[in-house]
Order: sequence, then C-alpha cells, then structure tokens
Amino acid sequence: MAVDVILGLQWGDEGKGKIVDYLAPKYDLICRFQGGPNAGHTLNFGGEKHVLHTIPSGIFRENLVNVIGNGVVIDPITLAKELKAVRAAGVVPEDNLLVSKKAHLILPTHRMLDQASEAFKGKAKIGSTLRGIGPTYMDKTGRNGLRVGDLESADFEQKYRVLKEKHALLLKLYPEIDFDLEAEENNWLAQVETLRKLRFIDGEYFVNEALDQGKHVLAEGAQGSMLDIDFGTYPYVTSSNTVTAGACTGLGIAPSKIGEVIGITKAYCTRVGSGPFPTELFDGDGENLARLGNEFGATTGRPRRCGWLDIPQLKYTVMINGVTQLVMTKIDVLDTFSEIKISTSYKVGDKCIDHLPFDIVDQKMKPSLEAFTGWSQSLDEVRTYQELPKEATHFIESIEAKLGVGFSMISTGPERSKLIPR
Ligand code: GDP
Ligand code: IMO
Ligand code: MG
Repeated sequence: MAVDVILGLQWGDEGKGKIVDYLAPKYDLICRFQGGPNAGHTLNFGGEKHVLHTIPSGIFRENLVNVIGNGVVIDPITLAKELKAVRAAGVVPEDNLLVSKKAHLILPTHRMLDQASEAFKGKAKIGSTLRGIGPTYMDKTGRNGLRVGDLESADFEQKYRVLKEKHALLLKLYPEIDFDLEAEENNWLAQVETLRKLRFIDGEYFVNEALDQGKHVLAEGAQGSMLDIDFGTYPYVTSSNTVTAGACTGLGIAPSKIGEVIGITKAYCTRVGSGPFPTELFDGDGENLARLGNEFGATTGRPRRCGWLDIPQLKYTVMINGVTQLVMTKIDVLDTFSEIKISTSYKVGDKCIDHLPFDIVDQKMKPSLEAFTGWSQSLDEVRTYQELPKEATHFIESIEAKLGVGFSMISTGPERSKLIPR
C-alpha cells in the first residue's frame, strides 16, 4: 500500500485538522511527520471544538492508530495538556497513540532560546509561536538533541543536564527575558513521566510493516508549504520540511511509497507572523475575511493577516509537493462578497512575473488581480456539488484550470459534516 499525504499549500491553518478528521475512517494509521506544538489543528464535531497541537487528528476516531513520527518535535508539557483534553472527551490515548523513539524533545530552555532569539531580532523577528521549535531543530541538526528513546536510557538526566548547560551558555549571548526556568523545569520533568506512559516505537519499522500488511496510512502535515524551511519565504518560515518530501524523512518511508498528495487551500489566503504576503489586504475586504473567517491563530490566538487567493503561489506549492488532488476550505467565508478576487501574476517594478522570486522578502510585489462575481447566498444547506450556485462552481473550476489539478472536496463550514465531496 502507499501513504497518502495531507498538507497545507499556503502559510498554514488551511483546515488540515478538519480534513484529516473527516477522512480518518478510511485509514488504519494517521501519522504526524513534522512540526510540533507550533501547530494548532481544529476539529469540530458533536457541537464541540477540539484543538490538537502534537497529537494526530485521527485521535477521536475508533479502530485506528495515531503515530507521532520521528520528524516531530515534542514538548511533554503541551502533550500532557492535550492528553488530558482528549481523555476528557472520552479517548484513552494509551490505546491508540504511539510515539517514535526518534522524535526529538523540546526542553524548557529551547523555549527560552526561542524567546531570547526573537527579542534579539527586534523588528526583524520571525513572529515565532515561541514553542521552542527552531532551537529544537537546531539541536537536532547540530547533533545535540535529546530524543524520546533517550527517556529509556539510564543516563537520561545526565544527557538533559548537559544540553541544559549548553543552552545556559547560549542564553548569555541574548537579551535577558522573563522566564521562570525552575517552575517550567519542574513541570517539564513531571510531564516527562506522563509521556513515558505512552508506547514508544521504532516508527520507521512500524509504518513500513503496516504498509506491507496492506494497511492504509495517512500522513498529516503541519504548517504550510510557504513556511517550509527550504521552499518557504525564508527566513520567515518554520524549521522543518513541511512539503511531501518531509513525510518521507519524518516517518521513514521511501518516496516510491507516496500515494495521493492532498493539498489544502483556503478559498482566500492567510498568514500569521511576519514575512512576505503578496496578496495581503489592508482594506475592508481584508477586515471582512478576518471577521467572517474568524481568523485568529489556534495556537497563539494572534490575528491572522488576510488576502486574496494567490495562483502563482499555489502553482509553486502544487509543483513542489506533487499534489494529486486539491481541497478548498472556507468557501463559505466568501458567501457575502459581491466580488471575489484572485491574483494571477505579480508586478515587480515594471516587470510582470508569475513565479516566486528568490528575493521575495526584499521585493515590493503588486498582485495583478482577476475578479469573479460572488454568489451572494449562504452555502450552509448545500450538500452536493450540483447544488452549488453557478458563480461558486465557476470560481472553483477556474482555479483548478489554472492549477492543472482538480478539487476533490469543498469545505463549507468548520463542522465535520460541512463537506461537499466531488
Ligand atoms: P489547520 O492548522 O490547517 O488544521 O487549521 P486551523 O484549525 O488552525 O484553522 C482553520 C480554522 O478554520 C479552524 O477554526 C476550523 O474550525 C475552521 N474551518 C475549517 N474548515 C472550515 C470551513 O470550510 N469553513 C469555515 N468557516 N471554517 C472552517
Ligand atoms: P498549523 O499546523 C500557521 C508560523 C509562525 C511564524 C513561523 C515560525 O496550525 O497550520 P515557529 O513557531 O515554527 O518558529 O514559527 O511559522 N507558524 C504557523 N502559522 N499555522 C501553523 O501551524 C504554524 N506553525 C508555525 O506564526 O510565522
Ligand atoms: Mg492551525
């Protein structure tokens, strides 16, 4: 069997959690492959909202296994809070949540370093979620990291102390920050014990054996392709490979094992944190997108910047990921717009370009926009593609024609049931 991949094609928050939760019953394994508690994946069902940061979005479905893969970075404190929340919702996570021994641990001092590094950057800050993501991946690639499997070794505390001492030296280079290390450390050590109650696995063997047994595996991406460490708007990115290739390294599966690549895009565009955003709106349309889309970060609560859908940007991420099917979310947010726009190219100086330039961070890019007539009606009761107003299908089909890939699902609301299969 092959591994299907779900990932975000923009700057994150495309609605990955909702789509993974919807599709989960078709799979035996749901695996997170990168990122960590910087992610906030929202699921809505039974009138309740659940936000997951580290745990895969299949956790509420029965008869399937959720895997936190080696590419993920885990903060035992956040994970313990999530475990408590899913337990309160009736899930027994010890039964269906497994953790790769090769996943790296986020220490309290990683969060301190994240905070100090952002303070040092001042105005040029990344807008990090301050969850310690960057410093943890730095220790991973710098070959200093602590991994989940180290919890089973007799000298774990010694390894922890060595890394903490290295961090103390680094912190001397940065401005002082407000952080109660003693309290955070005590909590961290306590929650490490909670983490120890989960089953640790050799994730790469586990996933490949499942594939050999004919099991269906779904890899759940976090963040979005424009936040990818290699292909995003560097340096305003996260510190992992958020693209399809990240599923191979983050789970230990060969590229030849990748099946469907399901790319999710909102019907417009958002970004939280700093960095370039060519179609960003600073007018009433932008305010309406933010208000109607309730665009506040699921992890930090920060307001998300909003803008029109960006075709050159999506073409780029469709290419990098090898997307085989698209999903459009939040189309309902456009219900009241009399006119909806998308960007088809950019003007840079007196040049017209339709690719993302290397120096996107330094360029003043003005989007060239194409306008569509809105449908000006609620899509709340629409259940089939055929019932969609013709203005909406024209909008959807124009985008797929430009991207050269079809939409397999259209999402019309946060609830699990608000999904139109095609
Ligand atoms: P993720 O990080 O990609 O999982 O996305 P987030 O959960 O951070 O943000 C998506 C937000 O949009 C959440 O609040 C979802 O409940 C909500 N959402 C998802 N799909 C839809 C949709 O089709 N319409 C509307 N109005 N909201 C949606
Ligand atoms: P999900 O999985 C949206 C952004 C941060 C910041 C940059 C770097 O919910 O889509 P980091 O904490 O990784 O150092 O932050 O990346 N960012 C996200 N934006 N959705 C996310 O995850 C994000 N995870 C990180 O706002 O700009
Ligand atoms: Mg999110």
